[in-house]
Amino acid sequence: MKNLIVVVLCIVFINPIIYAQTKSELSIIPQPNNIEELTGEFTINSDTKINIEPGNPNLELLADMLSYRIKTVTGYSMHITKTSKTLKNAFNLIIQSGDTLSEEGYSLSVTPDRVSLEAKEENGIFYGLQTIYQLLPTKTFESTKDFEVIIPSVKIIDKPRYSWRGMMLDVGRYFYPVPFIKKFIDYLAFHKMNTFHWHLTEDHGWRIKIDKYPELTETSAWRQATQVTPGGRIDENLHGGYYSKEQIREVVDYAKKRYITVVPEIEMPGHSLAALVAYPELSCVEGPFEIPIQWGIQENIYCAGNEKTFEFLENVLSEVVELFPSPIIHIGGDEAPKKHWEQCEKCQMRIEEEGLNDEHELQSYFIKRIEEFLLTKNKNIIGWDEILEGGLAPNAAVMSWRGIEGGITAAKQKHNVIMTPTSYMYFDYYQGDPTLEPFAIPHGRVVSLQRVYSYEPIPEELTPQEAKYIKGVQGNIWSEFIHSPDNVEYMGFPRAAALAEIAWTESENKEWENFKRKMETQYKRYQNMGINYAKSAYNVRHRVDVDTTAQTATISFETDSYNPQIYYTLDGSEPTPEKLEYLNPFPVNKPVIIKAATFNEGERMSKISTEYINRSILRDGKKQNEN
Ligand code: ACM
Ligand code: ZN
Repeated sequence: MKNLIVVVLCIVFINPIIYAQTKSELSIIPQPNNIEELTGEFTINSDTKINIEPGNPNLELLADMLSYRIKTVTGYSMHITKTSKTLKNAFNLIIQSGDTLSEEGYSLSVTPDRVSLEAKEENGIFYGLQTIYQLLPTKTFESTKDFEVIIPSVKIIDKPRYSWRGMMLDVGRYFYPVPFIKKFIDYLAFHKMNTFHWHLTEDHGWRIKIDKYPELTETSAWRQATQVTPGGRIDENLHGGYYSKEQIREVVDYAKKRYITVVPEIEMPGHSLAALVAYPELSCVEGPFEIPIQWGIQENIYCAGNEKTFEFLENVLSEVVELFPSPIIHIGGDEAPKKHWEQCEKCQMRIEEEGLNDEHELQSYFIKRIEEFLLTKNKNIIGWDEILEGGLAPNAAVMSWRGIEGGITAAKQKHNVIMTPTSYMYFDYYQGDPTLEPFAIPHGRVVSLQRVYSYEPIPEELTPQEAKYIKGVQGNIWSEFIHSPDNVEYMGFPRAAALAEIAWTESENKEWENFKRKMETQYKRYQNMGINYAKSAYNVRHRVDVDTTAQTATISFETDSYNPQIYYTLDGSEPTPEKLEYLNPFPVNKPVIIKAATFNEGERMSKISTEYINRSILRDGKKQNEN
């Protein structure tokens, strides 16, 4: 009920039901960079239209999208008109040339009269539509004749902070079918993201059909068994799958209509064992190989001394570039152990012939050669930050993942950078207390919603001039321990919302308290969209500060949710609203079992988190505070 005021006007005969958001409850994620709340409101009724200028098929598609969305909320099938004027009682979608609007930006004016959404290009209209969706009620209704939906009057002038607002999905470790990939793209679009990084090849599975090398999908796309848990439990079932070219075109087209660029990743020289299983002659050592069952870095990589490797990769990439209009192709580059290169005659010969100093320079040679080839196809490359080692290819962009140092180095060398450091942007990491979460990557810190939100992509080390090379941010979903679409959704959301706000909103317009408030509405949207989002933000974190002299611990609770109502117990019983209410930090001076949970109107929103305070903690203060 918080974000929805239901006004029932009980007048004899006329009984319209009006649903609206009040202005203080505006919950737009990512936060627009300029928003002015005006008086009055726009009313959607059965006569409201969508109006676009004639002769623009892209606008027609956008009008259809808006119409579909409004129908799902109100039940009204909206009439779409095509005139060059702006109409009253209409959503007007307008392409406006001129300098006042920015790249990917939009201007949205909601007045009692009409809604006008203007942008320089269709992508701006698309983002404006995402904002309009968030002005609508989160509920869906069966409309009646007298049914009205009110949108508060606002003026929004908005544009993104970064041009790369991305998410990566690893389909190599686990294959996710096309219908889910499309859903995932929908979710990204809803968050005003514009890049889907599709990690298509891995040691554990090759997922893209290449006509010239049929074995890549006949053989390399399938494994006999899989490590399921971090503890090493093995699932003995065959796992695999791949995308046909037709399916890839379908996904790329689907994404394009949502203004999302699909950036394919073809891993090299490492993470290539699945390909070597089918084509062992591309390795430094004699095969045969098998697709590994266990996760972890594999030592067998493409041979950099063998011309056949380059012939193979150039043939593969020639087919890849035909499928993906993206101007940039991800070539991997990470985690390539050099052990076999050190012992391989061909690799050592190459080092000799090319006058290279070591195997890192050999990797650099490898990547530069691939870059040169892709430039002939009018494509630039991006790679993980290991491509800095041994010297960066002249036009390469860098994805900084092992912290931010790679990003700093690359930006200082005037190369474009996407920031995706593990400790903020790896959504395969736990998002809360591991005892309350499904198993995930066993190493790495907790990347909570707050942690993601706190990330500032511009490293302090960069000058303003260097900072311009930071082109964006990306969240990564590696799938070793993410076995199903439901799990991808759980790990990806709501962290993607925090990422979206970092990527879109200037840092001075971001605010954690406000974000948490907006998330309450966002969760309802997720529910409507059928996203299996994590509710971990409601889980209670315990902070324990011990005064050993007084042998007293001060307990405080925290969540990543807005104004949480926390109830707790000290006797090991289940917390309920009848138990102790948490208002302030409180002292404990004897052993207790603390159980705490978050509630909303009597309903428990979180899991129950437990903390044991024993005598040695009170005496020695050993308890570590959770982050
Ligand atoms: C990576 O996480 N290996 C890029
Ligand atoms: Zn070799």
